[in-house]
Amino acid sequence: MNIFSRLESIVGPKNVSIEQADLEKFGLDRTNIYCSNPRVIVFPTSIDQVQEVIFLANELEIPIVPSGGRTGLSGGAVASKSEIVLSMNKMNSILDVNLNDCTVTVEAGATTQEVQEVATKNGLFYPVNFASVGSSQIGGNVATNAGGVNVIKYGMTRDWVLGITAVTGSGELLELNKSLIKNNTGYDFRHLFIGSEGTLGIICKVTLKLTEPPPPSSVFILGVSKFKDLLEVLKIFQSKLSLQAFEFFSDHALEKVIEAHGYPKPFETHASFYALIDFDNQDNTSQDDALKLYSECADKKLVLDGVMSESIAQSQNMWKLREDISETLWHYQPYKNDLSVRISKMPKFLDEVGSFIKKSYPNFEVIWYGHIGDGNLHLNILKPAALNKSEFKSLCDDISMNLGQLVESFDGSISAEHGVGILKKDYLKFSKSSGEISLMAEVKKVFDPKGILNPGKLL
Ligand code: MLT
Ligand code: ZN
Repeated sequence: MNIFSRLESIVGPKNVSIEQADLEKFGLDRTNIYCSNPRVIVFPTSIDQVQEVIFLANELEIPIVPSGGRTGLSGGAVASKSEIVLSMNKMNSILDVNLNDCTVTVEAGATTQEVQEVATKNGLFYPVNFASVGSSQIGGNVATNAGGVNVIKYGMTRDWVLGITAVTGSGELLELNKSLIKNNTGYDFRHLFIGSEGTLGIICKVTLKLTEPPPPSSVFILGVSKFKDLLEVLKIFQSKLSLQAFEFFSDHALEKVIEAHGYPKPFETHASFYALIDFDNQDNTSQDDALKLYSECADKKLVLDGVMSESIAQSQNMWKLREDISETLWHYQPYKNDLSVRISKMPKFLDEVGSFIKKSYPNFEVIWYGHIGDGNLHLNILKPAALNKSEFKSLCDDISMNLGQLVESFDGSISAEHGVGILKKDYLKFSKSSGEISLMAEVKKVFDPKGILNPGKLL
């Protein structure tokens, strides 16, 4: 029996595909620089089936690429070497909402948005949020420890995971942490699986903590002439308000979004950088505080102009200026960097990166945006029309080597929230010591002795 028939006998004929359209689609994530070339796509519908597929892959020694919503930006879900893609699309049920425990238990293929919606329907809140929540899946969120726009207040996905059911690379079923809050019984493998990028096991089921819904919020957008002023503004706004987000974007990012969508400018004054501040506005009292804080910033000559939302619709429109950046830039085939340093080091880091690129690659257009509140800078380099994809990628790889060294000298990270995948693998050494990387490889061998799961990713 060939592999196709063997898979069919495990998951049923409707759940295996070698259709060309599926092979093209399921071998790629949102990185636009790799080629899709999987052998077959399999859609298990139960944990038993996941286990059987893993046993088969071990027997035949054929690698598996775990696949969620494929919204990743580092190539973690790319299948270009004749692998089996194991898609969680058909394991997407909401299994349980527990109002006493304030938890939701879902199969890994449930989308982030479905989790958010079920929480809201039950009077609760799942706070991890980013632009691609409609298609990204919880399993992928956990496997990459997804961040997003509310990390300053709520933390990363890691902070919301209470339990994980996963099948390791050798086919062992693990029930990690049993969704307990207190459980001091030695190594917590749950945290090893969070951010493991599909290299240790297939995450099948997740129990997430929920919280109370946030109070209504308002949004302020303000402009500054120097990036370092944003940090002063952050300090001032943080001193009096409870912030849900403190995001930033450059004038170039704003121009691209306005050009693509025809949105109005937040205000006429030109600024080099903009902050989008989302703050709790319980009982409408915080808006007055925000205006006072804005005046304080203006008196200190930190801000050039600003505007505050007066309705939910206005807040939503203001958010679009930030949230639509990623999608807008897609047309320019950007090379994406996702760097982090301590908040206090951001201005110097941004200056040094900016001057390096300007000096060494004067024709490259760079777009900055990101999450100031948590030290995360997205640097997108747009592909010049004159370069083909591979010429551009190879120049960007050189830039990444230089950026990696700079990141290392700032004690930062080469991947703040997008993961390592294939795109950042060569630069891992700038954020982790060789000792750590060797231990990571040893850990992988324990969970996946035959190296079946997502080989070539992360490590
Ligand atoms: C964002 O912050 O918009 C996301 O991380 C996506 C991206 O960087 O393009
Ligand atoms: Zn981001």
